[in-house]
Formats: sequence, C-alpha cells, structure tokens
Amino acid sequence: MKVTFYGIGYVGLVQATVLADAGHDVCCVDINETRIENLKKGIIPIYEPGLTPLVEKNFAEGRLTFTTDAEFGVNFGDLQFIAVGTPPDEDGSADLQYVLKVAETIATHMTSAKVIIDKSTVPVGTADKVRAKAQQVLDSRGSDLTFAVVSNPEFLKEGAAVNDCKRPDRIVIGTDSADAEELMRELYAPFNRNHEKIIVMDIKSAELTKYAANCMLATKISFMNEMANIAERVGADIEHVRQGIGSDSRIGFQFIYPGCGYGGSCFPKDVQALVRTADGIGYESQILKAVEAVNYAQKNKLFEYISKHFGVGIDGKDLSGKTFALWGLSFKPNTDDMREAPSRVLMEQLWAAGAKVQAYDPEAMEETQRIYGSRPDLSLMGTKESALNGADALIICTEWQNFKAPDFSLIKQQLSEAVIFDGRNLFEPTRMKKKGFVYWSIGRLA
Ligand code: UGA
Repeated sequence: MKVTFYGIGYVGLVQATVLADAGHDVCCVDINETRIENLKKGIIPIYEPGLTPLVEKNFAEGRLTFTTDAEFGVNFGDLQFIAVGTPPDEDGSADLQYVLKVAETIATHMTSAKVIIDKSTVPVGTADKVRAKAQQVLDSRGSDLTFAVVSNPEFLKEGAAVNDCKRPDRIVIGTDSADAEELMRELYAPFNRNHEKIIVMDIKSAELTKYAANCMLATKISFMNEMANIAERVGADIEHVRQGIGSDSRIGFQFIYPGCGYGGSCFPKDVQALVRTADGIGYESQILKAVEAVNYAQKNKLFEYISKHFGVGIDGKDLSGKTFALWGLSFKPNTDDMREAPSRVLMEQLWAAGAKVQAYDPEAMEETQRIYGSRPDLSLMGTKESALNGADALIICTEWQNFKAPDFSLIKQQLSEAVIFDGRNLFEPTRMKKKGFVYWSIGRLA
C-alpha cells in the first residue's frame, strides 16, 4: 500500500520504517530540511535501538523515501498519517496547530480520495477538528473530493519502539467509515497474524483510549511512589511490598517500580492534557491531579535525601564545595531523551545549592550538553568510573543496565564518603550496608 507520514519524529519515523519493512511504500514528509537530508544519509535524529539499520535497509531498497515536498507526499499515499508534535500550551493542553496545518496541506493538494489518520497523541475531539479543517479547505477549492478521518493512536515505548511497533499488543482503530476500516486492516495485516490485535471503535473512544492508557500507567507509578513514601515512614521496604502486590495477577509487576519520578515526552504531557480536557468540560479529575502532584514531589526526593544527609539548611549550610557523581541523565534507559527527566530537576537543585555535578550517561551526554551548554558546575565524563573521581557521593537517576553491577570497591575508593543516593532501587540495602555504604534508596530505610 502507499502511505505518507507527516512529522518524522519519534513516532513517525519508527512507525513509517516498520510499515516499510513489512513491504509498504512509505513516504516521509517533514518541514525540517536538515533532518530529511540527514535521514537520506542514514543519520537518524534519535537514539533508538535497532532503528538505524532498519531505516538504512528500507531506504536503500526504495520502500522508504524522505522529502520536504508536502505536495508530493499528499499525492503519494492513499493513507495519510499525521504524526507531528503536539507540544503542551502554556496551560498544559495540547497545541494542535501543527496537526491542523497538516490537515490543511492534505486538503490543499489532494487530487483523489484520502484517509487521514491521526497518529499523534491528540485530545478527544481532534479528529472532528481535522475533518472540519480539511472540509473547509476542500470547500474553498470548490472540490467534491472525499476523505475519511481515522484515529490510530500509538503505544510504542522509547527504547523498545521498534519491537513495540513490530509486535504490538493491540492496534486501535477509531473510525466511522467501513472503507477506511478495511484499508487500515489491510495496512496492519502483517502485524496481525498470530491473533487478532485490531480493535475497532468509534473515533472519540480511540482518542480517549490513548490518554487512558498513559494516564493509567502514570497512576500506577505515582501510586507506588506514594506507597514508597508511606513505607519509609512506617519502616517497611517498598521493594518487598512491590513483589508482594505484583504477584497478584490482577495487579501485575509492570509499571509498579517506585523511583525518582516519571519523565519523558508522554506521561507528564498526557496526564496534564487530560486534566485540561476534563477541566474544559466542567469535570475535575481528582485522581489525575494527584498523580501529577505526587510525581512533581517525587522528583525532589533525591535532593531531599541529599539535603538530609549533608545537613543542608542547618545553620545556613548548603552544598558549596561538594561534588556529586551522577549516573544516568536520560528519563529512562535505552534512550537519549532528557525531556522531563528527573535528573534535570535534581541537577538544577544541586547547582542552586552550590554543588558541582560530574555526570555520565551512556547515550544522553550530547543532549545534556545541548540543554545546559558549558557551565563550570557541570562536567560530562566519558565513563561511569571517571564520574566518581574526587566526588563526595554517587547519585543514580536512571537504571541503565551497566549500572546494576558496578565495582563497589572502586566506588568506595573514589568517593570522599561512601554514600550512594539511588533513585531506582538497584541494590539490596542490607548488602550495601555490609559493604560499608550509606545507601539512600526510594521507600526503604537508609
Ligand atoms: C509511554 C508508554 O509506556 C507507551 O506505551 C506510550 O506509547 C508512550 O508513553 C507514548 O505515549 O508515546 P515512554 O514515555 O517511552 O512510553 O516511557 P515508559 O517506559 O512508559 O516510561 C515512562 C517513565 O515512567 C520513565 O521515566 C520511567 O522511568 C518511569 N517508570 C516506568 C517508573 O518510574 N516506574 C515504572 O514502574 C515504570
């Protein structure tokens, strides 16, 4: 089938590539010329395991093309995917200007019937706006061409995006058109072979499904972080509690890891956007507001431990003269994405208190450099070991695989004090105690 994607960011690039790999002809349109030129050379704008070779292969074999020529894109695909960004407005609601601009572009240039598919995460009611915009443009052209609008939300996770796309748990299709449904079924047939994964519903339900899924996952995390806060106050260990409740299949083990808060481009934005949607229709979402508030507080957690440990605030004491080794900058492992990363909140708090940071991350060093530039209180180190050099304490913000079994004697030797602040509960507190560390972790006594 012939497919066009507008917006070659995370979602667009991964989904377009995986569809091309299954045999479809996919044209990727983006307004960013550098990005398009780079993609043609195999330079991928994001770090995502497995993506680069897949892009290169499908580009070389001619199933994946990149262009800034929107008119070409419109005439290329029968299926037109909108995958542009929906950044939050000042009030937290999703900004739809880019989505609607694509709808306008499609309607301006189309010369045959199209299916317009919302792939971006967009609030309930966006499909109606896309439809209205496209119809308005067609009317102004005096055209009687037809189109259908479909909501087809994306559920991929950064760091596992290629696999999520190739082997989706479910494919949600929101449509009011039988013809569009049939085309979508044909498009996704290669991914729907083992058992039925396609769930067809009305458009608004599909739009809400996306938000409900992310908000449910964010709720699980904030709930566990709240339990962790209770656990440390009553003298319980949240890791035992996690195992105790996760073994109940009704609860499950996924997304109940406590930590220093959730980040990324999805959960914080989507929780906020649904709160705004609810507010806008006169319904106050008490749960989602609490999920957001708990997460906001949780991102301060490591700094609270650090302050407690070093007596910050006592007799006007701050962290001047202290240097912290920081392992993990990205919002989660296997990505270089720093959006809403807990490490950022922490570093900014440390700097404000006069401390220096020596940071290491396997992938997010360039991104950190881009965000913070050069500053005297930030050193980006080449290895996790060199980050320890002359530091006073170690902080862990992201659970990268190679942080899980470090050389503890080296850590002890390098730090001026054997103290670790772990925002991801990587180690066993009793074992750490035996090794002579003061070990602060989430929801467990130090
Ligand atoms: C999330 C969803 O998991 C995807 O299904 C969805 O498609 C995507 O948003 C999206 O809307 O595009 P992602 O943001 O890539 O994916 O990352 P997650 O793996 O969900 O992690 C989000 C945050 O939650 C991370 O900061 C992670 O450290 C944190 N987290 C996750 C926890 O603190 N505890 C957990 O148990 C799980």
